[in-house]
Amino acid sequence: MVDYSFKEDFKYKHENPYHDKLGEFGEFVLRDHEAEAFKGLWNKDVFKDPVNNEAKLFLEIGTGAGHFMIDYCADHPAEHFVGLDYRFKRSFYLAKKLSVLNLKNFRYLRAKGERIEFMFAENELDGIFYFFPDPWPKTKHNKKRLIQEPFLKSAYKTIKPGGIFYIKTDHDDYATWMEREIKKCGLFEIVMQSADLRTEHPDHLLSKYTTGFEKIFLEQGIKIKAFVLKSKKEI
Ligand SMILES: C[S@@+](CC[C@H](N)C(=O)[O-])C[C@H]1O[C@@H](n2cnc3c(N)ncnc32)[C@H](O)[C@@H]1O
Repeated sequence: MVDYSFKEDFKYKHENPYHDKLGEFGEFVLRDHEAEAFKGLWNKDVFKDPVNNEAKLFLEIGTGAGHFMIDYCADHPAEHFVGLDYRFKRSFYLAKKLSVLNLKNFRYLRAKGERIEFMFAENELDGIFYFFPDPWPKTKHNKKRLIQEPFLKSAYKTIKPGGIFYIKTDHDDYATWMEREIKKCGLFEIVMQSADLRTEHPDHLLSKYTTGFEKIFLEQGIKIKAFVLKSKKEI
């Protein structure tokens, strides 16, 4: 059974005080379905970047406290970046942090990763980042893991031909699950896979940035598992 949030008629629940509080950051925050009005129009109508309407557009799912989003945006001012998380309080505190930055190349969505097909048109994204997705470790909850067929299909649709999907996880069982799901779907080529990113690929883009959760895992001596997937879509 496909999760209801993948369906056209899905309705967000936002009876939460942080929904209104996030409204204070309307300049760069879009809440729930608000982002879906801009499907296919991110560069043209949202970023409205007069010098760079063809800019690369990247999405991060599960931005958490925003460590990667902030560092990546600062390092890549010519790219457009959309960060997304569905937790209200976490979104509010990140919005507060983002509001004092001088960067102009990002937007933030309080939204669900399951909805990317409704927020981005076919081939609109250059790539997706998803770092430390919730592992749902109990067998009865495994079905909630995002990295499986319905989401991989949406990612494939929205990412351009040859575009990249970057994943990191601390969780061995989820890494094994991901590999199986990615291969089963056959939509992405695994161009890099590591069971110990920092040791095996210290100079890789994925080792350059440390997210909030990653810092904790590294301090605990947990090896970071990583995948770099390339869309098999042809031009
Ligand atoms: C373990 S945290 C990792 C946060 C951050 N990426 C980091 O590495 O510090 C997972 C994050 O993903 C978000 N998340 C999980 N499932 C999601 C989904 N389906 N859509 C959007 N965000 C999701 C959670 O709210 C949480 O902030």
